[in-house]
Amino acid sequence: MKDFLTRIYEDFKVEEENWCEIADSQFVPNGLSNKIYGGYEKEHFQQFYMLKYTPLYIAEYVEIYEKFLEDYDKDTLRVLSVGVGSGLDYYALTKVLEERNNIELEYLGIDLVDWNYRNEKIDFEQVDLKDISENEHVIDFIQDGIDVVIFPKSIIEIPTYIRQRLGIPYQNDAFTELCNILVENHIDDVWFLNSYIKTYKEVTGLNEFSHIVDNLKSEGYIIVNGVDEKHYYESSSGENSVHYPLDYRNTWQLDLQNYCHRKCSEEQAEKCRLAQYPMLRKSHIAFGITNFKKVA
Ligand SMILES: C[S@@+](CC[C@H](N)C(=O)[O-])C[C@H]1O[C@@H](n2cnc3c(N)ncnc32)[C@H](O)[C@@H]1O
Repeated sequence: MKDFLTRIYEDFKVEEENWCEIADSQFVPNGLSNKIYGGYEKEHFQQFYMLKYTPLYIAEYVEIYEKFLEDYDKDTLRVLSVGVGSGLDYYALTKVLEERNNIELEYLGIDLVDWNYRNEKIDFEQVDLKDISENEHVIDFIQDGIDVVIFPKSIIEIPTYIRQRLGIPYQNDAFTELCNILVENHIDDVWFLNSYIKTYKEVTGLNEFSHIVDNLKSEGYIIVNGVDEKHYYESSSGENSVHYPLDYRNTWQLDLQNYCHRKCSEEQAEKCRLAQYPMLRKSHIAFGITNFKKVA
């Protein structure tokens, strides 16, 4: 991971002239698709995101996949990662599977944005979840069976949440679309792995997951293992923080701090100051693991 983050840091420095924008990059409308999401198509924001979140998110995805695999007894594993980004959950999964070489992995990631830094081994389609029925490759993958749908830090971005916050109307049909496709393709035994967003005040994403739970229940599925839409798991590791493999205080954090102070408006510099810490605390980890089976 150290080499990976070092490479991103080198690329980030090239984008210096865009650093003042970082604080404003989240929650921007995308003119092309008219979608609202985190401005992820901007290279400097992808780099900043990776520098800030990679160590914590990988640690979280390792915990999720390890816990899920405790109860998973098949020797093949077909994963659909929705909002895959640069594939941090794939990185975590392949690390976890290194110790279990008895499981054969098939993995497809989808995202609205074709991120940089994604491992080229990842099979990827650039598509909105709500349009997957029109994507032949995604449908072919699902037809061959799915064991896991993972939302790696993406569940709150998919439907209404950000639009509601910005006061923009939106018909939520992405989850309905996903559930319909699972039903149509006889995916009768499926696990959902949801990585939520946990702040000091709240956990977001549970409400979004409740759309999926309601939908699948109305189609005759029940939860046979894991948590429902009201509960979640926290980190089970005893340590409080994850290890950050770079000296971030003397690299990107310092660079950003100095640059924002010198070049950005007062308001941007203040936001920049708040943004420039990596997320390292495991107290931010919250996730759901839920196994549905169709019984009716
Ligand atoms: C917070 S990022 C998470 C990225 C990555 N999974 C990670 O762990 O860093 C959320 C991702 O969800 C994607 N996303 C949001 N809405 C989506 C949709 N409707 N369909 C597919 N991807 C979506 C965004 O483009 C973004 O890449």
